[in-house]
Amino acid sequence: MRIVLLGPPGAGKGTMASGLKNVLNIPHISTGDLFRYNISHDTELGKKVKLILSSGDLVPDEITIDMVNERIKKDDSKNGFILDGFPRTINQAEALSNMIKLDYVINLVISEDEIIRRLSGRRVCLSNGHLYHIEFNPPKVDGIDDETGEELIQRDDDKPEAISNRLNVYNLQTLPLIDYYMKKKLIMNVDASLTPSEILSNTVEILKKS
Ligand code: AP5
Ligand code: MG
Repeated sequence: MRIVLLGPPGAGKGTMASGLKNVLNIPHISTGDLFRYNISHDTELGKKVKLILSSGDLVPDEITIDMVNERIKKDDSKNGFILDGFPRTINQAEALSNMIKLDYVINLVISEDEIIRRLSGRRVCLSNGHLYHIEFNPPKVDGIDDETGEELIQRDDDKPEAISNRLNVYNLQTLPLIDYYMKKKLIMNVDASLTPSEILSNTVEILKKS
């Protein structure tokens, strides 16, 4: 099954994908996570995109498309994958349609107030990608990952100016994808204001029925 998770920053794409990948037994491919991995390992790609990510702008299409094209050719993606954060522009969607045939686009629907609450409270473990929220999903020990014992960080782009830039970028460049995929009859809307487990089980139900 080849799935795209669409939705504004902070809608819960990463949270949903970490549950859905176990249910469907296919890999979770997050372009944001791939960029952050390259940044933390100081690769050539990481050096190119570091400032772009911290500002909340989009990485140029060409770089992003090449990275995804390479990633989905890997063996683990043979039976499908969950794409989280890609595509984000019409150009990227067109490029993706030339790479593979998509089965579903799950669109996470959420209000802007809730997005801001989720992003400003998010904390992440850099080594295993675990997601926490200081209020909604706190770690057992404040500021420490439950598994690795490492310190949790706040993403640079979860600071207030970057959040508002990401929302603008989403509205200008990514929102048109809802119409684009609606016309292709691939969109399934999911209410992302519920709890993570409710969202996951609703999504699994929708996928079963279709
Ligand atoms: P990316 O990492 O994809 O960021 P994003 O789209 O802004 O989305 P987020 O990861 O911030 O949110 P999410 O929807 O995954 O929510 P999460 O599950 O973490 O991209 C980062 C940057 O990389 C971009 O700005 C761009 O520069 C670059 N980039 C990436 N892809 C690109 C592309 N295709 N083209 C060009 N550039 C690209 O949840 C958020 C918080 O809420 C967490 O704390 C979580 O615990 C909490 N939470 C989640 N669900 C719930 C719930 N149901 N109830 C309560 N709390 C919840
Ligand atoms: Mg994410």
